[in-house]
Amino acid sequence: MIIRKERVTDIEEITQVTVAAFKDLPISNHTEQFIIQALRSAGALTISLVAEIEGKVVGHIAFSPVSIADCTEAWYGLGPISVLPNQQKQGIGSSLLNQGLSLLKGLDGQGCALVGDPNYYRRFGFRNYPGLIYEGVPPEFFLALPFTEKVPQGIVLFHKGFLAES
Ligand SMILES: CC(C)(COP(=O)(O)OP(=O)(O)OC[C@H]1O[C@@H](n2cnc3c(N)ncnc32)[C@H](O)[C@@H]1OP(=O)(O)O)[C@@H](O)C(=O)NCCC(=O)NCCS
Repeated sequence: MIIRKERVTDIEEITQVTVAAFKDLPISNHTEQFIIQALRSAGALTISLVAEIEGKVVGHIAFSPVSIADCTEAWYGLGPISVLPNQQKQGIGSSLLNQGLSLLKGLDGQGCALVGDPNYYRRFGFRNYPGLIYEGVPPEFFLALPFTEKVPQGIVLFHKGFLAES
């Protein structure tokens, strides 16, 4: 398995992997593939990595800029992240996450935020910070990972691409 940046020729496969990964997830609106496209079109897909096995895309992760009420810069939102259902639980998601976070640090990123299952993301160091707020989901599902000691404060907004529905 190799992890590498997306190429134009991966776009269709990224869509397929994303649709397949979220297909049976009750919490999903099944718009994740549209979100990735909207971020890409807006030039907001800061990092887009694929996991490839024998020339086939089996996983994908996206990072895009977020804005924070206290004007802290260089924070990024993680997601969507997808691994093909029949390839899950082999460490592919973890590899995508770890490589994505390390690339973000290389871009002078100051931290990363996401909405997701704390049971999965805790192992990468993500946790709740009471002063850092995302509206619309129970607080335990909004997680952050500061890369420095500075933890921003206030409401976090993801890129408007996350509103894409088609
Ligand atoms: C979440 C996802 C990307 C993880 O990819 P993966 O390649 O299966 O992850 P890894 O193999 O690196 O890690 C698997 C570990 O995470 C656990 N895990 C996976 N998804 C989990 C979840 N939603 N909640 C809790 N634990 C989870 C597995 O049980 C496994 O634990 P173990 O290492 O103790 O056995 C993949 O399951 C997926 O595409 N899911 C559907 C889409 C999705 O939920 N995306 C995230 C939305 S926030």
